[in-house]
Amino acid sequence: MYPYLASPIKINKLEVKNRIVYPALGVFFSYDRKLNDRYYNFFREKARGGAGTVTVGPVGVDFIGSGFVVLSLAEDEALPSFQKLTGIIRDEGAAPWIQLFHAGAYSHPILIDGKEPIAPSPIFSNYSKATPREMTMEDIDEVQEAFIRSALRAKEAGFAGVEIIASGGYLITQFLSPLRNKRTDNYGGNFENRVRFPRELIEKLRIKLGPDYPLTIRMAGNDFVPGSNTDSETPAIAAVYEKAGVDAINVTGGWHETKVPQLPMDLPRSAFSYLALNIKRAVSIPVVASNRIANPEKAETILRDGCADMVSLGRVLIADPEWPKKAFEGKADEIRPCVACSQGCTDEIFSGRPVFCTGNPRAGFEGERKVVKTDSPQKVMVIGAGAAGLEAAVTASMAGHRVTLFEKSDDIGGQLFIAGAPPHKNELWEFIRYYRAMIRKYNIPVRLNTDVDMEIVIKEEPDHVIVAEGAEALIPPIQGTDDPCVYSAWDVLKNNPPLGKEVAVIGGGAVGLETSLFVAEKGTIKPDTLHFLFAYEAEPVDRLRELMFKGSSNVTVFEMMPKVGTDVGKSTKWVLFGNLKKYGVKILTNSKVTSIQNGTLTFETEDKTERMNFDSVILASGSRPVKKLSNEIQKLGIPHSIIGDCIAPGKINDAIHGGFMAALSI
Ligand SMILES: Cc1cc2nc3c(=O)[nH]c(=O)nc-3n(C[C@H](O)[C@H](O)[C@H](O)COP(=O)(O)O)c2cc1C
Repeated sequence: MYPYLASPIKINKLEVKNRIVYPALGVFFSYDRKLNDRYYNFFREKARGGAGTVTVGPVGVDFIGSGFVVLSLAEDEALPSFQKLTGIIRDEGAAPWIQLFHAGAYSHPILIDGKEPIAPSPIFSNYSKATPREMTMEDIDEVQEAFIRSALRAKEAGFAGVEIIASGGYLITQFLSPLRNKRTDNYGGNFENRVRFPRELIEKLRIKLGPDYPLTIRMAGNDFVPGSNTDSETPAIAAVYEKAGVDAINVTGGWHETKVPQLPMDLPRSAFSYLALNIKRAVSIPVVASNRIANPEKAETILRDGCADMVSLGRVLIADPEWPKKAFEGKADEIRPCVACSQGCTDEIFSGRPVFCTGNPRAGFEGERKVVKTDSPQKVMVIGAGAAGLEAAVTASMAGHRVTLFEKSDDIGGQLFIAGAPPHKNELWEFIRYYRAMIRKYNIPVRLNTDVDMEIVIKEEPDHVIVAEGAEALIPPIQGTDDPCVYSAWDVLKNNPPLGKEVAVIGGGAVGLETSLFVAEKGTIKPDTLHFLFAYEAEPVDRLRELMFKGSSNVTVFEMMPKVGTDVGKSTKWVLFGNLKKYGVKILTNSKVTSIQNGTLTFETEDKTERMNFDSVILASGSRPVKKLSNEIQKLGIPHSIIGDCIAPGKINDAIHGGFMAALSI
């Protein structure tokens, strides 16, 4: 399967066994810059899963550029622990790589002991919320030397190759960018001067590391920041890198500050492979494509179509380190998906916490959360086939228990269907694809259309019951919710009923906002139509933009609190708010709806009572746990667990992780 993906490739003189790169990805498993068992276990599984190269990184070259939470190879004393790690990765058959890192102006003062970050120019950084000190010539020399010292340590520690980071908006991109580099010396101004810092660094590294040692760079294919480098400039930068001595280039998207989503579901799968191709045209060394390369077909297509020579699979390998193995064995449907939800990874590190994975409860807990085959198989009833029940059923089956899954509706998936319905959320349906495949693999009997009651439980005589009854839409105490024009958000997302021109959504939490987008998107042109109209210049660009966002309904959200979207993750909130604006969704905060009558909404604002007319009204006031069995099950004295939304409505990761842990505890 996937012959292009599976074929070996040479980086300098090193043969890598396949085309899969696990890239640098900060996971914050320590707060002392040091490796620990959690890191070792994490990387062991990455390598064991079959990736060709496994990158450890970011790894700081000095304190000012990386701080407390990023790993460091700035001192000799770190060598033995990195040596141990390269041994672990090599033993599992992958080539250990390292990404050397300096954040420049992106260093948060709080993470560098209150010190001043350094950067090419003293320009306030929106990312670190600090103004860095302008680097002196001594600083420039010293940082380059720090990179060299760390690279030599990396080579000594047994890394097969060293990557330097020139992406993300970090130090090297700051030197390259006319927006961040206002120097008037040899390191600023024209292109040649702006590229001088990385060029010199590569040339020096090449000399110190020797001609045969793989040296690679990660670059932004387009900074996606107005006024900075675009994909018109980046091929010339790549050509300089190649000439200076790098052996491969990993091409990713833009800076942290960009307003173009780089990671969430909004970014279509493998959308940035065009950036890799753009660089590939300019160089003759291997080029790696990156970002949202979710499934083996996409990865194979990128390689086969000549867009890149390798593919970088980041979060994808956190969600399932065995992605490569499963792909090569023809079991792609058994790959646990990365749905690009950002909840366990980006949201967590932006809050200074270690990374976990929504869909993979073992990520970051590889040492302690092991599915071990039982020697005393139990008869297990799992009641409810939403995310929690599905995960519990699959994990219990993996552990060797005899599981039957019961579901009162006519299909598995539960709220995943609803959660995946809004625009840019369809990726969540991948969980359903995965669980269907696992149900097939483990031959788990699924009894659909079965509303389990105590009688059925008694009749089944299980050794263990897992109750995952889920939640139901909450009907708020508003007069007139039985009006025929009123729907629940769940109903709208699940059954997609026809709605009128003016639509009100009551509730400005994540579900309310995403339902608003679901409605606002109706009637807008879809990607293939846009492609057609654009290709034939059938409509002017402004009109196309309008057609993309102006649909058949106008949507107004009513929220009684002063803010909407308070339950939306940090790293995706701005994307959601941006979309609401683009689709023209009107948001009324501090507006408490008190009654609905024939489509007329009465609502109280801070100082008055107002009325507005709507054709359809959608209630999005949250959900409440279903407690039919969970309140009664203890009476039977059968060992049991209660998981997921039937405890309290939570996020998908609460459901999946709860299901996993319940299965482990049988
Ligand atoms: C939590 C997190 C931390 C990351 N840290 C780094 C980093 O230190 N260096 C880097 O080059 N890329 C970093 N990235 C970017 C990833 O390497 C990768 O390019 C990105 O996640 C998109 O690829 P994916 O869709 O395959 O995950 C990070 C991404 C995430 C989600």
